[in-house]
Amino acid sequence: PVLTVLLCLLAYLAGSVLFALPVCRAWHLPDPRAQGSGNPGATNVYRTGGWVPALLTLALDAAKGGFPVWLASLADLSIFAQAMVALCAVTGHMIPVFYRFKGGKGVATALGAGLALAPLTTLLLCAIWAIVMWRWRISALASIVAIVSGPLLSAFLEPDTLPLFGLLALLIVVRHRNNLIRMAQGREPGF
Ligand code: G3P
Repeated sequence: PVLTVLLCLLAYLAGSVLFALPVCRAWHLPDPRAQGSGNPGATNVYRTGGWVPALLTLALDAAKGGFPVWLASLADLSIFAQAMVALCAVTGHMIPVFYRFKGGKGVATALGAGLALAPLTTLLLCAIWAIVMWRWRISALASIVAIVSGPLLSAFLEPDTLPLFGLLALLIVVRHRNNLIRMAQGREPGF
């Protein structure tokens, strides 16, 4: 239990590092929180900086979700404990201690944590994301459809992780509420 608590804390602190911000600084791009959707995430970095800083943001935000879960699995913690570590990383990204608790939507962080804990489900969710993105060109829609599919797919493929995917879907959909409102009004920007 001590190790679980320590890894949860580490995951929350790692999750609290919003990599969009240092990446944008390094690329001399404006603060993503003051541009586009205002979200400190890879999609919004893409809007001002293009593919390279966006993919770097995606990779680093995913790594901060994956790394603590990977450590938890190396330490042979239970799936339940690993799922708690994953949730702490995503929570860190959403309500980061380093940025007055104003964070992002958690998709990339959940991707990394998911790859570490439930790779099969997560790879299929990536495929769903890509198909929706290819067809509709709206990143938030792709993220929402993919994460909502998580509980269903994990129930068949990696049932131990169903509670995690259920909670991730809930948290991530709530964080996309403004995107959902814009989509309903037909105002959500394309990619
Ligand atoms: O993962 C974030 C993405 O789903 C939406 O980002 O910037 O379009 O609100 P954004």
